[in-house]
Amino acid sequence: MDEKRLDEIIEKYPYPAGRTLGVLREIQIQERHIPMDTLKLVSEKLDLPLSELFALVTFYSFFSLKPVGEHLITVCMGTPCHVKGAEKILETLEEHLGLSGEVQDGKYLQTTPDNKFTVEIARCFGACSMAPVLHVDGELHGYVTPERIPEILEMYGWKR
Ligand code: FES
Repeated sequence: MDEKRLDEIIEKYPYPAGRTLGVLREIQIQERHIPMDTLKLVSEKLDLPLSELFALVTFYSFFSLKPVGEHLITVCMGTPCHVKGAEKILETLEEHLGLSGEVQDGKYLQTTPDNKFTVEIARCFGACSMAPVLHVDGELHGYVTPERIPEILEMYGWKR
């Protein structure tokens, strides 16, 4: 992200409360990830240690240091979802999307080669009564079964 666009984002958050997360959130949305160079620039401009920003970006699952695909699928791996078969849901997604299932840099974040879908895992969206659940672009899908995965993917442009 160039400096001018970053300055425009920063100008939208003149007050300290919520500023850092707001700026990072806008970068994530515009760039589909937080480039390391941009993070360094944010650190200079907001006068915050890079380590602090890095800790925020790696803590919140919404942020990613690597580019994510057009659609972000977040599979819940909290205990109630796990008990109701979340592992099988993840495996089925990997099979259909041709993902390897590897964990990289301590984070599960897999993107299809055509950059259409990224799959990540998270713990509990507070919708345990509908377990197992997943989010696609923030939209909740509950009572998911492996059989329903193709139908859900098709809603976001996946073709069998
Ligand atoms: S454990 Fe999955 S929504 Fe709570």
